[in-house]
Amino acid sequence: MGFGQGVTSYGDAGFSTFLRRAFSRHLGFDDKDLAKPVIGICNTESEVNRCHTHFGPIVDAVKRGVLMQGGIPLEFPTISLGEVFTTPTAMLYRNLAAMDTEEMIRAQPLDGVVLVTGCDKTTPAALMGAASADVPAILITGGPMMNGEYEGKTLGACTDCRFFWQEYRAGKLSDQEIEDINQALAPSAGHCMVMGSASTMAVCAEAMGMMLPGAAAVPATDNRRLRLAEETGRKIVELVAKGIRPSQIMTYEAFENGIRALQATGGSTNAVIHLVAIAGRLGIDLPLSLFDELGKTTPFLGNLKPAGEFQMQDFDRAGGVPAVMKEIEDLLHTSCLTVTAQSVKENLKPFSRPKHESYKRVIATAEEPFYQEGGLVVLTGNLAPNGAVIKPKAASSKFLKHTGRAVVFNSADDLEKRIDDPNLDVTENDVLVLKNAGPVGAPGMPEAGMLPIPSKLLKQGVRDMVRISDCRMSGTAFGTVVLHVAPEAAIGGPLALVQDGDLIELDVEARKIELLVDDAELERRRAAWQPEVQMAARGYIRLFQEHVLQADEGCDFDFLRRVPKRAVGQRMEENR
Ligand code: FES
Repeated sequence: MGFGQGVTSYGDAGFSTFLRRAFSRHLGFDDKDLAKPVIGICNTESEVNRCHTHFGPIVDAVKRGVLMQGGIPLEFPTISLGEVFTTPTAMLYRNLAAMDTEEMIRAQPLDGVVLVTGCDKTTPAALMGAASADVPAILITGGPMMNGEYEGKTLGACTDCRFFWQEYRAGKLSDQEIEDINQALAPSAGHCMVMGSASTMAVCAEAMGMMLPGAAAVPATDNRRLRLAEETGRKIVELVAKGIRPSQIMTYEAFENGIRALQATGGSTNAVIHLVAIAGRLGIDLPLSLFDELGKTTPFLGNLKPAGEFQMQDFDRAGGVPAVMKEIEDLLHTSCLTVTAQSVKENLKPFSRPKHESYKRVIATAEEPFYQEGGLVVLTGNLAPNGAVIKPKAASSKFLKHTGRAVVFNSADDLEKRIDDPNLDVTENDVLVLKNAGPVGAPGMPEAGMLPIPSKLLKQGVRDMVRISDCRMSGTAFGTVVLHVAPEAAIGGPLALVQDGDLIELDVEARKIELLVDDAELERRRAAWQPEVQMAARGYIRLFQEHVLQADEGCDFDFLRRVPKRAVGQRMEENR
């Protein structure tokens, strides 16, 4: 415990301790402080990450809480990933951030750690790192932005960024109108305020017990967030004293609770990848079929964009995650331990939902859900033998059972070049297919899965089509979009074999995605297939391509799972 632990290796432990004491004095701590628990505050604040620029007062509040409880708070930086400030995609660096977090927790003399995160990839990265390091840990996010507003309508980043951009491309908005909307889309500190990936991962973390009850939804600018931060500081010292580690909180049952919360709130498809990755760090397998199975028996309660109408500040006022968990309490593993050092059941006991009837428009009751099933569905078939994901509640119901002609794009570049070509042979009933945008192919699996509707169709009033790819889409996006097709095209998955004009059948109720081409023809195409992906010559991207796992396996690196798996990229390299 304290500064005396984990001394630097000089081959003389006495000298190492002597040095540690001298340098701790320089930090302002004397001998009586050296045995106190040291709490690392893993801060992802960065000026290049807009969603994290307000972390200073939150971190100060965490420090106050730690000090009040007799610990020593020491803040340290880790990689920060701002979704719209990172190229080609923040997902490329999630594993790097997770490695940074894990190794810095492990390398420094920390008895416990508070993870301060917010934007999409930062929360899963922190939880992956903390799961592997397995020292007592609590997460607190920076919280969501307040609602934006334009012409009397609530605006949400980034569902409305996409919606209004599509309207602009369709010629329905002037340059001035789209500029006015742009100015109102991100009105306050905080992460995106719809049920996108940042909000979803916060919801899942709270439901899994890694964050204080209620903490996921409190807006960034609400003073309750500072009080939650202070309480987080007090709690981490208690967790250290009790020796409660992430592996005791994030059990298989806790992941089931997280998946229930994901399904009940209509959360982001990205959470499927992240939860599988976090679980893999603890030696827990979460097959995609589990998400589907739990979705079938989880009522859909959250009326939140992009699948619904409201946003996080409304969700918070309606009771937030505790209200959802209270509604589905019978479906949860309520004996799971949480960072309060109490069980889910004990946390929920004193909670009662805010009473006003209007809140039921935001969070429905389990007796009268918005839908009987959860928000995400897993598809399989000859086009996605290892699975694909769709968010039916954010799709057009007319396309949920649909057969259409494939219009194929070989890469994101090819898509950008040709999608608005007036001569593109495409109709509303066709299926847009994007290949080579998966974990190895892109690389990094960007959020390009909500392929733009060809502008000539937009001008005819078309606003949705079936779209299929091996990449992801933002949790804030919408449409009839089939994502995470695995295995991906770049490693020879069946998506690589699709050609213009092939028929593709989507049947969401039957959980099916099929390429209607006979087996002999597919075999002929497979024999002729040549990989198109360029492997990076060196550096982190080379490491990424060689070791990243497929979407259904969480896109972690094979060697970072508790039980390592060999990545397909690595196997491809070995076969060259
Ligand atoms: Fe950071 Fe959306 S850009 S959460």
